[in-house]
Amino acid sequence: MSKRPVIIDTDPGIDDALALAIALFSDELDVRLITTVAGNVSLEHVTDNTLRLLGFFGKDVPVAKGAGEPLLEAFVDASNVHGKTGMEGYDFPEPKRELLLSEHAVNAMRRVILESPEPVTLVPIAALTNLALLFAMYPEVKENIREIVMMGGSASRGNKGVMSEFNIGTDPEAAQMVFQSGLPIVMAGLDVGLKALVYPEDSEEIRKMGKVGDMAYHLFKRYRGGSFQTGLKMYDSCAIAYLLCPDLFETAETYVGVELRGSMTAGCTVVDLKGYLKREPNARVCLDVDGERFRVWFKEALAKCI
Ligand code: RIB
Ligand code: CA
Repeated sequence: MSKRPVIIDTDPGIDDALALAIALFSDELDVRLITTVAGNVSLEHVTDNTLRLLGFFGKDVPVAKGAGEPLLEAFVDASNVHGKTGMEGYDFPEPKRELLLSEHAVNAMRRVILESPEPVTLVPIAALTNLALLFAMYPEVKENIREIVMMGGSASRGNKGVMSEFNIGTDPEAAQMVFQSGLPIVMAGLDVGLKALVYPEDSEEIRKMGKVGDMAYHLFKRYRGGSFQTGLKMYDSCAIAYLLCPDLFETAETYVGVELRGSMTAGCTVVDLKGYLKREPNARVCLDVDGERFRVWFKEALAKCI
């Protein structure tokens, strides 16, 4: 069976690092391009972190830098969760700069998508600024995009604001443009991210899984997305898990809009499960995940990262 071509848009970010590892070592995904966007930390840091990870993993995937700030919102990072550099806790090698393209991420995505003999899946696990710019500048790429599988949003409450999840809340206008793109979308939001947990006993098992496992363990000790003792939230791995093992998730096709003008709710993904807004469904929303099966899947996937 041929590998599924994907482009990952990311902001490493400790949970991004694990999601990238699983995707890159998977025998089902062909990661054609990795694009970076400001989010967990600055564009410079997330790009350096991506290049460090690829050097550490020994994976020569091209990388292209994207947007350094949201379309309209002021940029606010999540260094309180991921540390100042975005991947504190482990001593990585220098960034593998020869993998960095001179092209902007949007132009690199356009080229890779249009060159691909089969439709490409976009996997954004960060703010959606690059995707919004891509669709605005080059709408023709939609013809060769299979679907968008994102980590983002929430059918319940937020983790950046009262009702806004970080990736959506960082750039709500970009998110609205993506949800209005007309492309098939899978939204793996907080409703599953908060249940995709790694417990201390898992971390001890993972630590013994070679150098990537040891890296994961040390990053987990620094990560503030949850707690090492009560469970660390593997948000971004939910998007990869959906690609590789979709039956972990309970989903519903529904309409998702993004609140832009709410004085207290801007960045909220309005997930209209009961059809009050009478709009056509535009996304498949992950509403629940089998947490125990996710733990098994996550460790099996990491065991392949050697
Ligand atoms: O809300 C969680 C998301 O925000 C994850 O993608 C995490 O890496 C941060 O970007
Ligand atoms: Ca992320």
